[in-house]
Amino acid sequence: MLEPLKILALIGSPRNEESYTCKIIRQIDGKMNAIRPTEVEYVFLQKVGVPFCDGCLTCVSIGESVCPEFATIGPIAAKMDAADGLILGAPVHTFNVTGLMKNFVEYFMYKRNRPSFFGKKAIVTTTASGGGHKIVLDFLEGTATAWGCDVVTRLGISSAQMQKEAYIEKVDACTDEVARTFIDEIEKGELGSPKFRHLMNFRAMQNMTRSQKGSVNYRYWEERNWLDAEYYTDVPVNPFARFMAGRISRKMRKSMRKGNATPIR
Ligand SMILES: Cc1cc2nc3c(=O)[nH]c(=O)nc-3n(C[C@H](O)[C@H](O)[C@H](O)COP(=O)(O)O)c2cc1C
Repeated sequence: MLEPLKILALIGSPRNEESYTCKIIRQIDGKMNAIRPTEVEYVFLQKVGVPFCDGCLTCVSIGESVCPEFATIGPIAAKMDAADGLILGAPVHTFNVTGLMKNFVEYFMYKRNRPSFFGKKAIVTTTASGGGHKIVLDFLEGTATAWGCDVVTRLGISSAQMQKEAYIEKVDACTDEVARTFIDEIEKGELGSPKFRHLMNFRAMQNMTRSQKGSVNYRYWEERNWLDAEYYTDVPVNPFARFMAGRISRKMRKSMRKGNATPIR
C-alpha cells in the first residue's frame, strides 16, 4: 500500500469552500486520489486571519520566529515544509492577486531570502470571471519558485464560463492533466532546471546578500556555499543562460558599488 502523498493547499479566496478556487483544487484532489492515495490539507487564508503584515522585516533581519504573528504563521510554515507538494490558489481581484494571498505571502518574505523548499513540487491556480489570469499565475509561480519550489504546472479558469458544458469538459481535461503531472513530478523527485529568470533572481539575491556581511541571511548563504555559486542547487543549467546571468550579475554588482543604479520611470 502506497503512503499517501501529503499536499498542502493554500486557498486565497475570501469565499473559502464556496470559491471556484477551492472547487477546482478539490477536483484536482479527487483526480490525484484516483491515481494514488493523496491527502490534501486545505488552509483557508481568510480563516487563518492574520492582520496585515506590519512590515517590520524582523523575519528577514533577525529570524522568522520573531515575527509578531509567528504563533499562527510558524505552524503553517512547518506544514508547508513537511508537505510533498504545495498548491497555491487565488482568484483575480482587480486584475491582480487577492489581498488575502498577497498579505499571507508577505509573512514569508524571509523564505525569499533564505529559500529551503528545493525539490518540493508546486502547482498554482487562479480563477477570474474575465481576465487577469496571467498576472496572478505569474505572481504565484514566482512566489513558490522564490521559496525554492519547482512549479510543475499551472491552471487558470474563467468562472463566468463554468455553467457551459463545453467549457466544463475542457476544465475537466485540464485538471486530469494537472493531477497527473503533479503526481508524476513528485514521484520522480528530480530537481527542476532553472529558467533564465530564476538564475537572475538567484544572482540578484546573491548580490544583495553579499553586501550584508554578518547578517542572518549572509550566514545562511555562507553555510550553503551560495555566495559564490551559480545557482542554489547543482542541477544542470543551460550554459548560455548561466554565462549571461553571470555577466549581468557582475554589471549589477558594479552599479550597486558605484550607487549609479537608474531610478525606475
Ligand atoms: C473585488 C473583486 C475584484 C475582481 N476583479 C476581477 C478582475 O479584475 N478580473 C476578472 O476577470 N474578475 C474579477 N473579479 C471576479 C472574480 O475573479 C471571479 O468571480 C472569480 O471567479 C472569483 O473566484 P473565487 O470563486 O475563487 O472567489 C473580481 C471579484 C471581486 C470580488
